[in-house]
Amino acid sequence: MATSMVIGTQWGDEGKGKVVDYLAEQADVVVRSQGGNNAGHTVVVDDKAFALRLLPSGILYNDKINIVGPGVVIDPKVLLGEIANLKKEGKSADSLRISDRAHVIFPYHNRLDEAEEASKGALKVGTTKNGIGPCYADKVNRVGIRICDLMNEDVFKEKLAYNVKIKNKILTDVYGFEPVDFDQILKDYLAYAEELRPMVCDTQALLIEAIKSGKKVLFEGAQATMLDLDHGTYPFVTSSHPLSGGASVGAGVGPNYLKNIYGVVKAYTTRVGAGPFPSELLDETGELLRQTGHEFGTVTGRPRRTGWLDLKVVSYAAGLNSLDYLAITRLDILDKLPEIKICVGYTHNGEEVKGFPADLHFLEECKPVYETLPGWQTDISGIREYAKLPENARRYVERIAEVTGVPLGIVSVGPNREQTIVLEEGFQKK
Ligand code: GDP
Ligand code: IMO
Ligand code: MG
Repeated sequence: MATSMVIGTQWGDEGKGKVVDYLAEQADVVVRSQGGNNAGHTVVVDDKAFALRLLPSGILYNDKINIVGPGVVIDPKVLLGEIANLKKEGKSADSLRISDRAHVIFPYHNRLDEAEEASKGALKVGTTKNGIGPCYADKVNRVGIRICDLMNEDVFKEKLAYNVKIKNKILTDVYGFEPVDFDQILKDYLAYAEELRPMVCDTQALLIEAIKSGKKVLFEGAQATMLDLDHGTYPFVTSSHPLSGGASVGAGVGPNYLKNIYGVVKAYTTRVGAGPFPSELLDETGELLRQTGHEFGTVTGRPRRTGWLDLKVVSYAAGLNSLDYLAITRLDILDKLPEIKICVGYTHNGEEVKGFPADLHFLEECKPVYETLPGWQTDISGIREYAKLPENARRYVERIAEVTGVPLGIVSVGPNREQTIVLEEGFQKK
């Protein structure tokens, strides 16, 4: 089966965009299956950086079909803005196909996201304020508006009127926020609808046909395992399922179609937003990682929290996603360190912790168990062959594979396409 998938194993921003861009070269179709413009995937092509939020990273090639699937939540203004930016760079979005089942983000979702966060105090999630949670909440509550609804003016008007009536009551009476303007939203979204219409189709059927006819399909993950609504550090998570199983549901393909699942592992750990982070470094090493790695959010510009690599997290991700390979990114960011720590497990009151704790108070009391490995203190960004990596760099990535039980597939030593060391090719597993 000619499919491959890229999944984040930590708290996001592992470098999924870079790995997708690399694997996309061999693909015919690239699919986003969940999340929305909370994602920020930076892809560097010929030293030019593209920050993609809703567009699949395959859009930077000219010969791929790019799908925004049913499980994605779409802010049309953001999507159309991204398409316009792409055109300014001389690239085309003609290959884009948008699912008629995807749910639409409206200004009341953004405003509710802001209002809910403002009211939560210590329970604040630190969302991207893009309306993702409120949009998924409407979907689950069966009052969401889908792309197919947006394509039908009468249906759209009726659903919008209902939503604006209820949301304005909540915004004003519960949160003391300003209401949204029905007429303005209607006008804006009917205009977006006409721009989107030529790209809207049944992407599920398209995808199954592509897979059955032997086309190479690449599933592009967004967000990451520890942000999963069921399995992440709830409530400090996103509102969707960034796991491989979530991609099956979100794109609309059965699990047996999913092969060659790459778990992207940043060579250290970062997190944006609130929530527990056992291997977090609040000292000068953490600051060094932030500065060396330019760890500031693609979407929000927020400084990312930094820490040592946590293999308790990555091992958890290995099982949750049935990972076939690891794609280790940003190894070059560790180039200067004399020694590097890896968290290989947790203890709680001196006892080894089995599994991944659900209770965040318990998780906060967990102490990471570290192994210390020697650094390589050499610039590895120009290396293209695994055997040419310094011995200590190989030792580091091999230890990651050993502890997690997942073989190495890719080692990335820089943001550019060519700064990629490949141990296992993208689509070869049967
Ligand atoms: P994503 O959300 O998982 O796609 O990751 P982001 O794009 O938010 O953040 C990853 C950042 O690391 C981007 O700026 C990438 O260009 C960059 N990047 C990816 N792989 C590497 C690598 O191996 N080395 C370095 N130095 N940068 C990388
Ligand atoms: P990529 O695809 C990092 C985090 C937010 C917040 C939580 C909920 O670039 O890896 P939301 O707006 O989704 O309701 O916010 O999830 N978050 C991400 N963190 N990378 C992402 O995407 C993220 N998408 C959401 O920071 O803590
Ligand atoms: Mg990102």
